[in-house]
Amino acid sequence: MTTTTTDPTTRQRPRQRVCILGATGSVGTSTLDVLGRHPERFEVFALTAYSRMDDLLKQCLQGRPRFAAVPTESQARTLREQIKAAGLRTEVLSGAQALCDLAAHPEVDSVMAAIVGAAGLPPCLAAAHSGKRLMLANKEALVVGGALFMNAVSAGGATLLPIDSEHSAIFQCLPEDRARWPGRIDHILLTSSGGPFRRRDPATMASITPDEACAHPNFAMGRKISVDSATMMNKALEVIEARWLFDLTPEQIRVVIHPQQIVHSMVVCRDNSVLAQLGTPDMRVPIAYGLSFPERIESGASQLDFTTLGALSFEAPDFARYPGLALAWQTLQAPMGSTAVLNAANEAAVAAFLERRIRFDQIHTVIARTLDAVLPGGDACDSLDALLALDAHARSSAEQTAKALAT
Ligand SMILES: NC(=O)c1ccc[n+]([C@@H]2O[C@H](COP(=O)([O-])OP(=O)(O)OC[C@H]3O[C@@H](n4cnc5c(N)ncnc54)[C@H](OP(=O)(O)O)[C@@H]3O)[C@@H](O)[C@H]2O)c1
Repeated sequence: MTTTTTDPTTRQRPRQRVCILGATGSVGTSTLDVLGRHPERFEVFALTAYSRMDDLLKQCLQGRPRFAAVPTESQARTLREQIKAAGLRTEVLSGAQALCDLAAHPEVDSVMAAIVGAAGLPPCLAAAHSGKRLMLANKEALVVGGALFMNAVSAGGATLLPIDSEHSAIFQCLPEDRARWPGRIDHILLTSSGGPFRRRDPATMASITPDEACAHPNFAMGRKISVDSATMMNKALEVIEARWLFDLTPEQIRVVIHPQQIVHSMVVCRDNSVLAQLGTPDMRVPIAYGLSFPERIESGASQLDFTTLGALSFEAPDFARYPGLALAWQTLQAPMGSTAVLNAANEAAVAAFLERRIRFDQIHTVIARTLDAVLPGGDACDSLDALLALDAHARSSAEQTAKALAT
């Protein structure tokens, strides 16, 4: 007998229909793992992918979703044939609009936003406007969307649940009822592993290869977030994400290096009591919490053994080693839209680094020069179109800098 049959919270509940945007990525596959543990509770309704078509086909064969979406019609045609040959009835859609349509589909209850980069913003906004349970791993969408994103969440009546382990930790330390949040928090402490180069000789940073940068000490993640972890731009994006998720001032957000990644983040309350959330570093924990909130379900993660854990250490971040980190607070205090410029420049710089067009230490140069060159106008954040135009402008400026550095 399984525990689920005796759990009164799962009895006679309609299954939650889940759309996973970015199903073939690291967060997407972990989400499917959690869903697969609870077939009585969740239905895989839609899966989307960008380039890993074989993986998407396998996921369709296993999860039997109602819909799948891919970028181009030619990819869709191939997938349709394979799906038909396998006797499945999954409908295959193509194009960027398909992502928005699926995220807003009337039969979808929950959307896992696990696309990497600003490309995830339009479907996230569609899910927010349609009042979905929106599980946000795609931090870039919130970094770019900012107030527009949060307004869409409240206007649409969506439930926004953080999936980044740090933000999930903060969320778990706060009362379930958001109305009780204001006035509680003195500041939050976002923890960071410090990435793979925490102890590396700064004189050798220029020779870091993409594979070295992608070898994260505790997590196997997508290549973009892995490079972001190595530069600590990931933490910079998380600082901006926290500003919006928890309605904090930039001064209320601090970062502490914690290499073991057991404490996933902390809230320092008004009375100086500190609340922390701990666990093994496994993304299935925040994913399971996002899927089951306000309940808890089995995630597949192993339990912490405090008798073998050893010492937990904490230290201040070295802003000279990670020059991109300070840009979080700087752009939050700059004109609205600066965080979107920061994100676009970072995405372009990381892509250039992964394609070996620029060096690791030049990622920061590209970002800093783009921020100097692209100044958002007063209406840059008024609409999705305005934000996408700003994003495109910053990307093209960053590309020019990357090209100039490469020559
Ligand atoms: N990995 C983690 O542990 C972790 C933890 C916290 C937060 N996050 C955040 O979660 C997001 C996803 O991270 P990840 O590590 O899962 O990344 P990933 O492994 O690179 O997966 C990204 C997913 O997005 C799809 N995709 C890529 N570019 C796209 C585009 N232009 N349009 C539509 N879909 C696109 C990919 O499709 P294909 O694979 O088919 O190309 C893949 O399914 C990021 O924002 C990251 O910061 C990740």
